[in-house]
Amino acid sequence: MKHLLFGLVVLFLASCGNNEQPPRLSADGAISQAEVKRIYQMKCSICHGTDGKLMIGGAPDLSISTIGLEERIALITYGKETMPPQKDILSAAEIKAVAAYVENFRN
Ligand code: HEC
Repeated sequence: MKHLLFGLVVLFLASCGNNEQPPRLSADGAISQAEVKRIYQMKCSICHGTDGKLMIGGAPDLSISTIGLEERIALITYGKETMPPQKDILSAAEIKAVAAYVENFRN
């Protein structure tokens, strides 16, 4: 029994040690701006561009988008036309954070 416990502790420590990802959450549990930016660049900029204005594949210019936060959250969650749904990829908190992030593109 003692052995098993020791093994688990070693496994736990090893799995922590191998995790070289930067922390996804800041101390207060919110997703950091750097992380949101990274998510946007990975999942969204391919169609919308880093400034929201790329408009690939029928994507609208996000800098002139007027839809509200709730609508954006729904759109990002479930997708529409060529825009892929994120519900099985990003957490609800990440979707909300990225939905808020695109407001930065508005003029
Ligand atoms: C494969 C291309 C593609 C990717 C990737 C993509 N989008 Fe879109 N996006 C679109 C298209 C196309 C539309 C228009 C959908 C429609 O209304 O028919 C759209 C619409 C939007 C809108 C609504 C703008 C408006 O005012 O109507 C927002 C906001 C948005 N996308 C944000 C994002 C975010 C955030 C991500 C990353 C999580 C993302 N998109 C990833 C193609 C994409």
